[in-house]
Amino acid sequence: MDDVLLEARDIVKTYGGTRALKGVNFEIRKGTVTTLFGENGAGKSTLMKILSGVEQPTSGEIILEGEPVTFHNTTDARDRGISIIHQELSLAPNLSVRDNIFLGREITGAFGVDYAEETRQTRALLQEMQLPIEPDTMVADLRVGQQQIIEIARALSVDSRILIMDEPTSALAAAEVQVLFGIIHELTARGVAIVYISHHLEEALEVTDHAVVLRDGTMTARGERGDIDLDWIVRNMVGDNFDLGSPPSGYEFGDIALSIQNLRVLDPENPERAIVDGLSLDVRKGEIVCLYGLMGAGRTELLEAVAGRGEVAAGRILLGDRELRNQTIAERIEYGIGLVPEDRQRDGLVQTMSVGQNLTLSSLKDCIVGGLLSRRSEGGLARRLIGEVTVKTPGAEAPIGSLSGGNQQKVVIGKVLATNPDVMLLDEPSRGIDVGAKGEVFRLLASYANRGLAVVYSTSEVGECLSIAHRIIVMRRGRISAEFGADATKEMIMAASGEAVAA
Ligand SMILES: Nc1ncnc2c1ncn2[C@@H]1O[C@H](COP(=O)(O)OP(=O)(O)OP(=O)(O)O)[C@@H](O)[C@H]1O
Ligand SMILES: [Mg+2]
Repeated sequence: MDDVLLEARDIVKTYGGTRALKGVNFEIRKGTVTTLFGENGAGKSTLMKILSGVEQPTSGEIILEGEPVTFHNTTDARDRGISIIHQELSLAPNLSVRDNIFLGREITGAFGVDYAEETRQTRALLQEMQLPIEPDTMVADLRVGQQQIIEIARALSVDSRILIMDEPTSALAAAEVQVLFGIIHELTARGVAIVYISHHLEEALEVTDHAVVLRDGTMTARGERGDIDLDWIVRNMVGDNFDLGSPPSGYEFGDIALSIQNLRVLDPENPERAIVDGLSLDVRKGEIVCLYGLMGAGRTELLEAVAGRGEVAAGRILLGDRELRNQTIAERIEYGIGLVPEDRQRDGLVQTMSVGQNLTLSSLKDCIVGGLLSRRSEGGLARRLIGEVTVKTPGAEAPIGSLSGGNQQKVVIGKVLATNPDVMLLDEPSRGIDVGAKGEVFRLLASYANRGLAVVYSTSEVGECLSIAHRIIVMRRGRISAEFGADATKEMIMAASGEAVAA
């Protein structure tokens, strides 16, 4: 027991009427990885925010190496060797990568901030993370996955005894995850304790030494490496008989809903290079197509070009019979294109609005009665959507920021479904969604597909492709490198993406 570094005793946290944690006991041990599993809203992030000084417990004690401690803020916790990688990206977009990493703890010399030293250390961290970008790149110019790597690098730059990782890999592809796992092994070998949270259950199992399951603010199970497996986690998280399902069947696809022809999109950072390179793809009404590929394969750029967010260098996009060329994003929504974007913080949600306002934001025209916005029909729509996408919230009026990460993501999906699209594009929509809710989202998409919706679903999880897709398109360097039916295997799909397949 003497390897216990931190002990949380009987932690309670209430937010107004919500009891996020109902008396949780939790231990962190030296040189091990403790993984926290639990459904969306179970209280995982709340517990970690308390251990890292972001939030204060309503009651309960934190004992660090035998001594009771109180963290008034993150600096207190950091001074005691506890750092956190946040679930929601928290970088300052208008600062460089280097300035973000050293924000609030600049390296100073005789002449003020020692930028040369900061740049040197940033470069070393980026190298360790195998991210080939320059330290003075603006964060706003980075993709979500790259930002996530910077978040990790920032936490690594502090010498921590306890490193909390709340969904560190939600925007990373398998290869980047393996880089992180290599780093986790090095850290634990040096005695650092890691707390790991993820809804990529199989991936999380790979690094888990101790597993803890939270359910509704209470700890319901714990297990040790060797005694636990995927079944154990799922059973303890959501109960027995769980299945992600299979692609919807029993109907014929309709006409071509979306036709992408020889599409070319240039890399904004390097216009010599095509990030989508002459790609053609037809999707029929009722069909669910999965896009699988590594980070940088061009999936996001493809979807954004269709949705009207990116510039098209060549090629054609047809929505039914209508050619999409110069229409704005709003016009394309009107015509029937819906996009669940990669970055929910930046593009998906308005942080100052409520859950209900966010849900109905893109479909307010449906709530106009007699020329006026009807609050009543807006409220009705919001309530229907909350039920349909199973958002866990005290009500439609709750601020969006008070929802757990996964529930915010469900709001983004609901908001797009509310626009009644003909073609729905989803870019890594399962980011942060728990297995149970993922099953719900899949069933929802399947039922819409059954009624004629064409779906393009981009993911870095092979298992998702196999559970939802009629057809799997593997992208590699801006092109389609392979195409499979629903009978493909994980190994086939991963191999076609250029990913090393684990033996
Ligand atoms: N600032 C806040 N104000 C009000 N309620 C909050 C706040 N932060 C969290 N909650 C509530 O506390 C509960 C636990 O949320 P938490 O973010 O800890 O869940 P989680 O387990 O991390 O879920 P996820 O897997 O979706 O990230 C939820 O019901 C959430 O809505
Ligand atoms: Mg969370």
